[in-house]
Amino acid sequence: MNIIICRDYSEISDQAAQKVITLLKSNPYAKLGLATGSSPIGLYERLVKAYRLKEISFKDVMTFNLDEYVGIPRSHSQSYYSFMNEHLFKHIDIQLANIHIPDNDIERIDEIAKEYNRLLKKNPLDLQVLGIGSNGHIGFNEPGTPLGNETFVVTLDERTRKDNSRFFGSLDDVPKYAITMGIKNIMRAKELLLIASGIEKAEAVHQMIYGDVTSQLPASILQLHPNCTIILDEPAASKLKEK
Ligand code: GLP
Repeated sequence: MNIIICRDYSEISDQAAQKVITLLKSNPYAKLGLATGSSPIGLYERLVKAYRLKEISFKDVMTFNLDEYVGIPRSHSQSYYSFMNEHLFKHIDIQLANIHIPDNDIERIDEIAKEYNRLLKKNPLDLQVLGIGSNGHIGFNEPGTPLGNETFVVTLDERTRKDNSRFFGSLDDVPKYAITMGIKNIMRAKELLLIASGIEKAEAVHQMIYGDVTSQLPASILQLHPNCTIILDEPAASKLKEK
């Protein structure tokens, strides 16, 4: 693991953006795995800026999002579909047909998971962006999820629902289910880039880097990836000295 510790969130976002921009300059046809949550917002802002400055184009880029809530419509302000439009897609020149976010129609959800999985197998990712949950989840692979899973429907951990209730009116409004890439899909990406900021991530970050590789802390699997960069701010890195 290549670990980069930054002064603050702004520097994390600069570093992460630099990686993605370098990739898109060398490969305008890159296949990007994208994440949601507050962590990558600064990265997306910088990518939009680089696009406006004509440093990069998304014309031939394909994107594949990690996950989506099940139980709210795509039109909901907190769906990951809305999030991605708001923070990235509506600002850039990506082709609609090249955007992939798991659909969340509950009637067809098992079929959707299979289709998404097939799509991922056909399109190996050049780079997957990740955040980390305070319980060590990546995507929505909650503690206890088998590390061999491919795209599946998950019951969200209570801790995840509480963490994410800040984006909804109340805990009751947070969906109970989601569809997510499995660990196996994530680990197939050629390169992984995980961003974490804030003291509430410090324990999970410590376990991810120094703990055993265990399904109890799904992010610990990243220890086994050959090309994984972790970008942290000082609060998120604060427990690393303890080893
Ligand atoms: C959500 C997403 C994850 C994300 C995590 C952390 O549950 N499914 O992909 O990494 O939360 O979110 P945040 O960056 O807001 O702390």
